Amino acid sequence: MESFAIKGDLIWTEKPDSFMTMHDGYITVSDGRITSVSSERPSADIVDRSGCLVIPGLSDLHIHAPQYVFMGMHMDEELLEWLEKHTFPAEAAFSDTGFAREAYGSFAEALLKTPTTRLSAFGTIHEDSTLILMDILGKAGFHGYVGKVNMDRNSPDSLVEDTDESIASTRSFIERSSAYSSIRPIITPRFIPSCSDRLLKELGRIASGLSIPIQSHLDENRSEIEWVASLCPWARDYASAYDSFSLLTDRTIMAHCVWMTDDEIDLLKARGTYIAHSPTSNLNLSSGIAPVRHFLDKGLSVGLATDVAGGSSLSLLTVMQDAVKASKMRWRLQDDSAKPLGLSEVFYLASKGGGSFFGSVGSFEPGFDADIVILDEAEGFRTSCHSIEERLEMAVYRSSELPVKEKYIRGIRCTCS
Ligand code: GUN
Ligand code: FE
Repeated sequence: MESFAIKGDLIWTEKPDSFMTMHDGYITVSDGRITSVSSERPSADIVDRSGCLVIPGLSDLHIHAPQYVFMGMHMDEELLEWLEKHTFPAEAAFSDTGFAREAYGSFAEALLKTPTTRLSAFGTIHEDSTLILMDILGKAGFHGYVGKVNMDRNSPDSLVEDTDESIASTRSFIERSSAYSSIRPIITPRFIPSCSDRLLKELGRIASGLSIPIQSHLDENRSEIEWVASLCPWARDYASAYDSFSLLTDRTIMAHCVWMTDDEIDLLKARGTYIAHSPTSNLNLSSGIAPVRHFLDKGLSVGLATDVAGGSSLSLLTVMQDAVKASKMRWRLQDDSAKPLGLSEVFYLASKGGGSFFGSVGSFEPGFDADIVILDEAEGFRTSCHSIEERLEMAVYRSSELPVKEKYIRGIRCTCS
């Protein structure tokens, strides 16, 4: 693969507490990796984006691809009613592969216009449609994971599997996904209320036997947690119920984690499980505000996630903004000792923090994958009198005004328009 360098105004985070910036910097890329970051012009072909803000690709740790069809609607319900009335019927439509191809095509096209380069996505229970999602995301240039969802209880007739069928279809999905390389399979039990003990146990076995990562939901909403307690009276709590099926590993992503007990936090820390913090969704569905400052103090692995369509934006810049705002409200209303998150901290979570689930991703350091996003500040942003950090702050708070000009994923340019 060719070697080239991108020139622009660079900003990235190597640690959560501070930004690194370089005006007129050069990122040299070779074989999809960053080989150097320097203010000296390298001897390589130059992609000259002088004056543009250049950030690392962002990682969306939790997104429901089929829910993009109703993103921005049905925001007046809490989780369980929202699932039953709106989400399950919308997902049932993906039994039709023709519909899935069209809907997933629009999803990928819209995602190309955002700074996201990596994602861990839920499909639906439908094996064929979920393979179509993998195909479409891979062809669009994305890297990451896609899961066929498992649901064998407490679900409508139009969106439920028989337990044995669900297990067999998961195995078949994993086998058939070997046709794709940049998008890999991930075991995806929807959440405990939708999956029987026998199914969860078998999914834990498949994941460990085949070394496949896992994604699910944990402690999002109070009614959900009460329901799980009644379904699993033998478990100490929600997290340990997952743990008893070997589903908490250092290759697991648990979305939300809003209402974690100290025991649950300690358990996720011990297992090395990732938390997908989804503040936009948590605000929309009145779920609550996750104690992210506490997670960070405890050294848990945390990334950011849109959780579309609980989340109403595909842009992780918007999620960063909501993560800061939500942390301020938690500090003001719930916990005096929880200092609000700063801009560099949320940027780190969306880039290098969440990116670590995918490898060396989300920073401008030699050896990292060349996931590079060039933002287009041309209209409405006065760039000459602002520092690079100030421009990034405007990008986060005015994300809706800020198109992505160009995007590279592991060194390959995507078509963004
Ligand atoms: N819990 C179980 N399924 C879902 C879902 O689709 N979205 C969210 N936000 N939470 C869930
Ligand atoms: Fe979700």
